[in-house]
Amino acid sequence: MHSDIKRVLFTEEQIRERVRELAAQIRRDMEGKEILTVGVLRGAVMFYADLVRELDIPIHMNFMSVSSYGKASVSSGAVRIQYDIEEDIAGKNVLIVEDIVDSGLTLKYLTTTLISRNPATLKTCCLFDKPERRTVDFQADYVGFVVPDVFIVGYGLDYAERYRNLKYIGELKPEVYSH
Ligand code: PRP
Repeated sequence: MHSDIKRVLFTEEQIRERVRELAAQIRRDMEGKEILTVGVLRGAVMFYADLVRELDIPIHMNFMSVSSYGKASVSSGAVRIQYDIEEDIAGKNVLIVEDIVDSGLTLKYLTTTLISRNPATLKTCCLFDKPERRTVDFQADYVGFVVPDVFIVGYGLDYAERYRNLKYIGELKPEVYSH
């Protein structure tokens, strides 16, 4: 285990198993349909890559990149699209794939934005959900794990751009981010 990690919340195996379950659920719900998957850069990259390989149905792969104006000003609700999907989503079955719902601002903004482009269906799939942190009303359609309000990193999630490539989800030691 990395020396900055206090404890492992989810092992590589636990994540793999849950991703398989989520993929099975999505596959059942979307039977016979082609899905346009949208991965939200950058935190969702690991989850996205694993999920689409487990889906085992026809998909298109797309990405978006959004930024909030710094987590300190998150209450302003300002979310900006840095990189947009290069495909018309009208009439299509869209699945947004995110790593975590925290305040809910990012996914609220993304879903509102994409709905205005008239997809046939729009679903959201999120590996982690921190309901205690919510400041806007948002609930993902598919959630991997509900997590407590602790600082988690790994499997795409960062602190100051570090730890994204850990294979597990760990709780960061407070002394790492408190100074
Ligand atoms: C993280 C995460 C979500 C968002 C969730 O992204 O990947 O996109 O925050 O937070 P919210 O529910 O409060 O909006 P971040 O801005 O850290 O960028 P990253 O994906 O590049 O790590």
